[in-house]
This record gives sequence, C-alpha cells and structure tokens, in this order.
Amino acid sequence: MKKILFAASEGVPFIKTGGLADVVGSLPRCFDKEKYDVRVILPKYMCMRQEWKDKMKYLTHFYMDLSWRSQYVGILQMEYESVQFYFIDNEYYFAGPKPYGNIYQDVEKFAFFSKAVLSALPVIGFRPDIIHCHDWQTGLIPVYLNAQFRENAFFQDIKTVMSIHNLKFQGVWDVKTVQDITGLDKSYFAPDKLEAYGDANYLKGGIVYADQITTVSNTYAQEIQTPFYGERLDGLMRARSNCLTGIVNGIDYDEYNPATDSFIERNYDPETFRKEKVKNKRALQKELGLEQDDRKFLIGIVSRLTDQKGFDLIAYMMDEMCQQDLQFVILGTGEERYENMFRHYAWKYQGKVASNIYYSEAMSHKIYASCDAFLMPSLFEPCGLSQLMSLRYGTVPIVRETGGLKDTVEPYNEYNSTGTGFSFANYNAHEMLYTIKYALDVFYNRKRDWNRIVDRAMQQDYSWNTSARKYETLYERMLSE
Ligand code: ADP
Ligand code: GLC
Repeated sequence: MKKILFAASEGVPFIKTGGLADVVGSLPRCFDKEKYDVRVILPKYMCMRQEWKDKMKYLTHFYMDLSWRSQYVGILQMEYESVQFYFIDNEYYFAGPKPYGNIYQDVEKFAFFSKAVLSALPVIGFRPDIIHCHDWQTGLIPVYLNAQFRENAFFQDIKTVMSIHNLKFQGVWDVKTVQDITGLDKSYFAPDKLEAYGDANYLKGGIVYADQITTVSNTYAQEIQTPFYGERLDGLMRARSNCLTGIVNGIDYDEYNPATDSFIERNYDPETFRKEKVKNKRALQKELGLEQDDRKFLIGIVSRLTDQKGFDLIAYMMDEMCQQDLQFVILGTGEERYENMFRHYAWKYQGKVASNIYYSEAMSHKIYASCDAFLMPSLFEPCGLSQLMSLRYGTVPIVRETGGLKDTVEPYNEYNSTGTGFSFANYNAHEMLYTIKYALDVFYNRKRDWNRIVDRAMQQDYSWNTSARKYETLYERMLSE
C-alpha cells in the first residue's frame, strides 16, 4: 500500500474559495483503494461551518518551534466519504472570517501550517511515501523537509510533489521577515533557492525542492515556460521542465450530475435534456426576475470576479452584447469594480441581466443547469472547472483558448459537425463578441446543430477517472526511482 498525503489550504466540503478546494476534496477518493492510502491535511479554520467542526475528533496536541516562537499545534481527524482528513488547529493563525487575508499575515500562517504538517506526522503515526503539496501555501513543506527534518530517519525517504494550480499567487514577502518567521538558515534565501527578485518566494521554494512538479493542464504546463504566462518564474519552469507534468483536472461526477442534482428544478440526462433542461431555465428566469421566455439565449457566468477571468473584455463589451437577443445571469464575488459593474448592468438592463453578487453552491448548480451557454473568456486559466461543470450539464462553453480551457473545450466546426463549445484565440473583446454572435446564430437558426453540440458536450468524460490514473503513474515512477 502506497501512502500519500495531500497538503493544502482548502478542500471541499470543509472550506472553499475556488477550484483548488474542488480538486483537493474530490481527487483523493478517486485513487485505486487497493494500492493507495490517500489522506488529506488542511488547516482548521474558525470560519469553517460548525457542522463540520462538530464532527472532527481531537487526536492530540503538541508545541512546535517556529523560529523563536513556540506555537500550539492541535490535530483533529475526520473520515469523509472513506478518506481520512486531518486538520491542524491553532486559533491564533486560523481565526478570521476567511482562509486568506493580508499577505503579511498569510506568509506566517502558512509557514506555521507547512512546518506543522511535517511535525504532526510522527505524532499521528502516518509516514507518507509522498507528500503532495498544492499551491504556494504549502510551498515550504519541501523546503522544511530538506532543511530541518531529513536527519530524522522517519523523514529520510519521503518524496514530494508540488502542484501549481495558479502561478500568479506565489506567497512573496521580504527576505528579512520571512527568515525571521520561518527560522530557515540564511543560505536558503539565495536565487537558486527561495529568493526571487530580491524577495522570499514560497512557491519558488516548493518548485526548487519538490521531486516532481505538476500543473493542472497540458497547455498551462507549456504556457508557464513562457514570459507571458510565467509570472516571472518562466526561467525556473524551463529549468525544471524535465520534472514538470500537466495533468488536467476532473470534477466530481456524483456531485455535478444533472440526473440527480437536488439543487435544480428539473433533473435531466443526455436523453432527456431536449425537453427537460428548459424547465430549469424557466424556473431561474422566474426566480431572478428575468423576462420569462423559453426561447431566449441565456448565458451564464459563475466566477471569482478578477482580471484572470477576462472581465475587462466583458466590461468593454457589455453594452454591445446587451443589444443582442440574449440574457445574462452572473454569480460571483471579487474585485469591487466588477461587482459594481454587474450591479450597474442589472439595473440598466432589467429583465435581461441578473447579477448575483454573492457565493452560493445552490445558485451555481442552478446556473450550470439552466443556461444555454457559459462564458469564460479568461486571460489565463490553469485548468478551469466551471467549463467542465457546464459540459456536464449540457451548457455550451464559450471560452478563450488558453490553459485548460483549450484542452477541454473543442471548438465547434460546422463543416464536419464536431466540437463541444465555442472559442477564440486572442485576448480581444471583439473576437469574444464575434464568437458570442456566432453561438447565438447557431442557437437561434440551426437548433438541430446546437442540440448536437449539447449532445457531444454531455458525452465528454471529465470525471477523475483518467487523471487519477495519471497521478498514480507519476507516483509509481517516483517511488521506483
Ligand atoms: P478558480 O479556481 O480559478 O476560481 P475554477 O473554474 O477552477 O476557477 O473553479 C471555480 C469553482 O468555484 C467552481 O466550482 C465554481 O462553481 C465555484 N464558484 C466560483 N464563484 C462562485 C460563487 N459565487 N458561488 C458558488 N460557486 C462559485
Ligand atoms: C486555480 C485555477 C483554476 C483551476 C483551479 C484548480 O484556482 O485558477 O484554473 O481549475 O486552480 O486546479
């Protein structure tokens, strides 16, 4: 039995701010149970729902040195859908209304978490063959392992994987403070280790010290080796390209299943969507005060409202798009200027634009189920899960060809009747508008062709099946080296 530990800052159903949580919560249970014991370790945030906190069992606690501080480390445990989850407890670090806050606090919080993960292992008696780290918040795990734990026989052979879900976030702060926080030796703050452009960089540390690096799609694995997508680490990504693999994300096909989804008005499947899917649209139009019309082309957006997702293209084109015969439903939170923009357009185009500036699992499912198309014109997209959810619900993605969007949405080709969505190549508002108009034309004037796109979309398999096997292959290779 191979033992794997996922270390991350979020995971469903306990805590989620984005796609990382979906991956960390759903991938571990998709490994071959005969061969892999995959467990997960997360912080125990005070902002987790009480329902979950009540179910966690206290295991033990100890005090750990973090540089000159001595800090309490509590360990809690809970089994969820046959996966063991551990939680690191410390109310000083993990208080607050959200998992992340000011970066200068977060760098200390996740230095603590990373060291606590390693320190906790002998105490709970779980010695993983591989620690699989996710994003900058766990970037110091491979570093600490190398710097402070290797002499101990327990840790000698533990290997590490660093998965990059978003290269934009690197956990950067000044060297002096990070050295003081982490207690790492001065020698670690050099350009071939933790230091980048004069600052300390957690993700860089993880990338340098991990045995293998993965990211969440093939295209993104290529893109981050170029200056445009490389976020100033493209040189490092090229240098480590021999150890870099792109493995596309999947989604939980039980949770995201239009045939059984209890959040939605009417269940449907690939056989019944032609009659049943529209009943979801009808219900949503009514619920959100949109003009009630089964035939109206309804475009959905469910997203963090940030530049990454291409909202400046949408801002630029919103008036022009609203001259078209369509409706928009938006669900998202994030940058204030985008929140206000959507509030404004909902006021300006009443009955046509519905803006929901909040976070809601239930509403997201309703949107995936109700819309005809899903818009995701990202500037960059490591993988993207929303378009996979859309495909699953027969909601045709309209995307920009970048990262995982390029790898998972096949553009419609009217000449040979292939494709599962619509896409455009350049980050250009007019290209986006043109692509939307094209989709609109197929929807209104060639309904049979449209429905065949939906057929093909719903036939795609983006469950974890294929990708979990790829992680298994990577683990096998690492452990046989
Ligand atoms: P990212 O991780 O970059 O935010 P992904 O597409 O990988 O993008 O994942 C986003 C996840 O967050 C999806 O599960 C999506 O449904 C969900 N999501 C985003 N915004 C909201 C919201 N306001 N309410 C509910 N779910 C949301
Ligand atoms: C990040 C990326 C997103 C990806 C998710 C899960 O949040 O922005 O593209 O799907 O991580 O890997």
